[in-house]
Amino acid sequence: MSSIIEDLIARKVFNNRGEETIEIDVVTAGGFGRASAPAGKSRGKSEVVYYPQGGVEQAIKKVDDLIAPELAGLNSDFQEEIDSTLHEIDGTTNFRVIGGNTAFSVSLANAEAAANSHGLLLFQFLGGNTANKLPYPLGNCLSGGQHARGKAPDIQEFLALPHGAETFLEAATANAQVHKKIGEALKKKDKFFNGGNSSEGAWIANISNEEAFEVMAKACEEVGNELDFECGFGIDVAASSMWKEKEVKYAYENGSKKRDPAEQLDFMLEMIEKYHLAYVEDPFQEEDFESFAELTKKARDCLVCGDDLFTTNNERLAQGIKLKAANAIIIKVNQIGTLSDAADTIENAQRNGYTCVISHRSGDTCDWHIAHLAVAFRCPVIKTGVVEGARIAKLNELIRIEHFLGNRAKMADL
Ligand code: PGA
Ligand code: ZN
Repeated sequence: MSSIIEDLIARKVFNNRGEETIEIDVVTAGGFGRASAPAGKSRGKSEVVYYPQGGVEQAIKKVDDLIAPELAGLNSDFQEEIDSTLHEIDGTTNFRVIGGNTAFSVSLANAEAAANSHGLLLFQFLGGNTANKLPYPLGNCLSGGQHARGKAPDIQEFLALPHGAETFLEAATANAQVHKKIGEALKKKDKFFNGGNSSEGAWIANISNEEAFEVMAKACEEVGNELDFECGFGIDVAASSMWKEKEVKYAYENGSKKRDPAEQLDFMLEMIEKYHLAYVEDPFQEEDFESFAELTKKARDCLVCGDDLFTTNNERLAQGIKLKAANAIIIKVNQIGTLSDAADTIENAQRNGYTCVISHRSGDTCDWHIAHLAVAFRCPVIKTGVVEGARIAKLNELIRIEHFLGNRAKMADL
């Protein structure tokens, strides 16, 4: 059979930050798949461990010595069997023996190899004939928090969401224009602005949170008017990185302003109302399910999304569902390790009415698999940058998928 695995090849490559990462080739009798792993900077505490002790080199050794011999001869069509074999080889709950990024790359490369063995694109293989909906791109335009330096905003990301676009190409165009307009506005606003970008290609400037909201709102409104469809925006607060456990407060403005959880809730509600925010990610630290639930109840027409809160982990999501915390979830496959684990979380989220937002990581490669996963798993939003090579790789792949689908292509329901 053409989908039987013949070989696995592991190598060290680099991500867009120049950090070492792992890349895997899966060779089947009649096909081939390749995937490389991303890396986060503002990571959730409940994420799997990326690499075994010894880093990427040790991970490669694990592939050669332990994983390749076990997987050779298996059928790449059976993704769950491949992924449970990875769990068995590892034997821990957080992939600390083989590394979560090792599991991720093997898992994704296997799915790609299976699709390729059948002459299909990944989104067709995983999503079937009816997978024809394109996600809206949630594009990071302006950066702060752990993704920036100096006097940048405390909020980690300001993201455009062109939810009125009728095609993916239109939506991606809107985000590119918002990004460009923001760059021009920052030149006027910040005399020290030197055109610097975060790893995700978002601008970094010496402006306050308030100014960032204003710049973002204006750019989205102008682009919306020019293109004649609605272009909203949202934020990723990444609040765990602002959280001071001992003081039970969130630190703003280099610690000169602090907000306790109740004040944080009020601040979030105020910003949602004032700027009609379409999206708020991690507005509270990752263990505060209760505040998430409170905001979800009170915020109107806004996706309240958990990233560090859930870490793509089905057990954490189950807790969120029980408490009604958040109404959207970030899906980063390498937070949990394998495609099957992520698919279980997506299925549970969708069954319970959560919007799935498939996402890049700040350290990423030109691997474009999340473009296919968005369409295959019916995720209505894809979070990625607007410019920068690793982001463009994903956006361009979605443009290709839309082109490939022709008049069958539709935008997702959001
Ligand atoms: P990371 O952060 O990829 O650096 O972890 C991005 C995010 O918080 O969404
Ligand atoms: Zn986040």
